Amino acid sequence: MAPPIVLGIESSCDETGAGLVRDGVLLGHAVASSMDEHARYGGVVPEIASRAHLHALRPVVGQALDEAGLRLSDIDAVAVTTGPGLSGALQVGLAGAKGIAYALGVPLHGVHHLAGHVAADTLEHGPLPNPCMVLIVSGGHTSLLRVRSLARDPIAHLGDTLDDAGECFDKVARAFGLPYPGGPAIDQAARTGDPRAVDFPRPLPGSYDFSFSGLKTAAARWAEGHPGRELPVANGAASLQEAIADVLTRKAVAACVEHGVGTLVVVGGVAANSRVRSLAEERCQAAGINLRVPPLKLCTDNGAMIAAVGDLLVRAGAEPAPLNVSIDPSAPL
Ligand code: KG4
Ligand code: ZN
Repeated sequence: MAPPIVLGIESSCDETGAGLVRDGVLLGHAVASSMDEHARYGGVVPEIASRAHLHALRPVVGQALDEAGLRLSDIDAVAVTTGPGLSGALQVGLAGAKGIAYALGVPLHGVHHLAGHVAADTLEHGPLPNPCMVLIVSGGHTSLLRVRSLARDPIAHLGDTLDDAGECFDKVARAFGLPYPGGPAIDQAARTGDPRAVDFPRPLPGSYDFSFSGLKTAAARWAEGHPGRELPVANGAASLQEAIADVLTRKAVAACVEHGVGTLVVVGGVAANSRVRSLAEERCQAAGINLRVPPLKLCTDNGAMIAAVGDLLVRAGAEPAPLNVSIDPSAPL
């Protein structure tokens, strides 16, 4: 019998994603983003995100099926993000996923959004080695994890952010007069800047925790010190990006060395950052660590990564969720 085809649905923030995975292979996926509608508010407006998911869900599932050359009736299981995320946004994806699973009479699996970010990498680089170290940096999370299996074993939590996460990019971008979302804007502006121009703090709190609020405040103060058109945005962006990439990769590589783990996987929206990628590459190479980073399009939120976890769960024989399963907006890791 052919391995099952799993549909994954993601709607935890401002991206509506659908992806189809069979036996670890991505067959097709599509993403619609309501980012432009939030841009003028400088951040995601939950009600706008929920409505956008409602409009986008059907077309996005249709596009993913078209890309894969499949029909709805070919789907053998449905996986959906149940949290963490915005409640209204999660509700829309879950309701859609339940509808499809019920109509087709196929199992439904609830997926943790961050497990999805980790699994995204398997679609490009194959199964994760056991164990591996995972640095996950998304809008709301920065964590270092020691992972054995996404489908079965508990994940060892080594460190977390004590305050800000990827949104540090978004908040500083605003102070620099750059558009939302700030991460890609800082990355772009940094290309012509000097990463040594501004000596921003590089906070290294104890153990494997992270703290970015001091850096964020220092960057905002620096911007205030250069009113109006005088602000050397490129230098500020390059220096901020360098400080963040330094702290993230320094801790991640140190964790691999201390725990004797030979593979580092860097995932989440901030894994799309060009300096985080290049510095991780440099430092892993120097330390003899194998680095895995998903391709850019799978770093930010998408449905393929949720389908990837669903596929692992189905193949591991995990118990499906009941049809009355609910969302968990603040799901713990
Ligand atoms: O994982 P993600 O798509 O959504 C969440 O689960 O939160 O991460 C979004 C975060 C935002 O803070 C965004 O600014 C950041 O990822 N981001 C980047 C880049 N692309 C997205 N940060 C730095 N450089 C980038 N190129
Ligand atoms: Zn995410």
